[in-house]
Amino acid sequence: MIIGIDKLDFYIPNFYVSMTDLAKARQIEPEKFTIGIGQTKMAVNPVSQDIISMGVNAAQNMLTEEDKKDIEMVVVATESGVDHSKAASIEIHSMLNIQPFARCIEMKEACYSATAAIQLAKDFLSNRPDKKVLVIASDIARYGLNSGGEPTQGAGAVAMLISHNPRILTLNDDSVAHTTNVYDFWRPTSEKYPVVDGALSKDAYIDSFNTLWNEYTKRTKYGLNDFESFCFHVPFTKMGQKAFKTILSENVEDSTKNRLMDAYQDSVNYNRDVGNIYTGSLYLSLISLLENHEFQDDQKICLFSYGSGAVGEIFSGSLVPGYEKMLDKERHLDMLKSRKELTVEEYEHFFNRFDNGEFDLEQELTQDPYTKVYLDSIEGHIRNYKQQGNES
Ligand code: HMG
Repeated sequence: MIIGIDKLDFYIPNFYVSMTDLAKARQIEPEKFTIGIGQTKMAVNPVSQDIISMGVNAAQNMLTEEDKKDIEMVVVATESGVDHSKAASIEIHSMLNIQPFARCIEMKEACYSATAAIQLAKDFLSNRPDKKVLVIASDIARYGLNSGGEPTQGAGAVAMLISHNPRILTLNDDSVAHTTNVYDFWRPTSEKYPVVDGALSKDAYIDSFNTLWNEYTKRTKYGLNDFESFCFHVPFTKMGQKAFKTILSENVEDSTKNRLMDAYQDSVNYNRDVGNIYTGSLYLSLISLLENHEFQDDQKICLFSYGSGAVGEIFSGSLVPGYEKMLDKERHLDMLKSRKELTVEEYEHFFNRFDNGEFDLEQELTQDPYTKVYLDSIEGHIRNYKQQGNES
């Protein structure tokens, strides 16, 4: 049985702030952000983009009417939920006009839950050969102005259609997960921003990767050379690189190290200009890799998913010949390039408006072709969404 990712797309809000400008404003050497952390731009989301509208914006371009008839489950993976009870996937299911006899749920475990959603989809489809599952990873990463985590913020959503006979990536039956109880990063329901122990979070990430890589290689007998490339959860681009280097030791040939490190750079191209999008980060990195690296047919990619708390998972995917026809690099590059740059002052206004729920649609709606759906208002705790150009 061959199940995997058949379609893959993403949405990033239409505003960003430069990391160099942010560093200067915080009286920090810009190289700390651009080299030490490895980020050049940070996506900033307006109040009118929440996890639901970002999810719809990510998915709506890739789905056909036939897909909408075949989708039997919609899973939203997020740690920026807007409701303790109602799943974000219900609004998304409705706005995308997916057939009514579908299951809709929301999943949580920090940045890891999109991987849990994909594995759930794979199991769910194993006895439903004609059905599909829509997985959406959507998040807003915010640590607060002037906080230690500020340079690792970001926002965005990735949409994935999981099906039989996928046209992008087959999910292999080799996944290994690992859970350990650690308070490295968490988001108490009473708090506006996450509580984070930055140094511990970096160590916990690396420990999870090392523990899993040992177990995965033991169980599968695979080694570095079985993979054309690796893809990591990317809270910031230096993080995956630090973890990766721990297994590219002295005993590994230079040619292997260079090949894998070059591919790593291709996998973080987009993340470097976006920042952390939590659940979607690994999958944005996968899109970056697929759109910027040259592969040969059937090559394998090893993926490391990590969510603080902490749950990690290593699994692999095999590329399907012709996968590049299912991607839209030009559109993705244009979406990132056509974003509007904010000064640090404007970013701070956006940030505070978000906290206070103050809509300023005149400033926020830039008529870009990628932001089709936006949150227009919240009345009586009911969220009202609108399509750009169809305001009535
Ligand atoms: P910090 O204390 O501001 O920075 O925290 P630092 O002192 O760790 O420095 C960062 C790097 O910049 C260091 O490199 C410095 O040497 C270097 P390293 O030693 O790590 O290789 N540096 C410079 N480089 C060049 N020129 C300079 C310069 N100065 C310093 N002039 C931290 C940084 C990322 C910890 C902070 O921003 C933070 O707490 N972020 C949030 C937590 C986070 O992202 N953790 C990552 C792992 S946990 C994870 O991935 C899960 C997560 O996604 C949440 C979830 O699962 O839901 C976060």
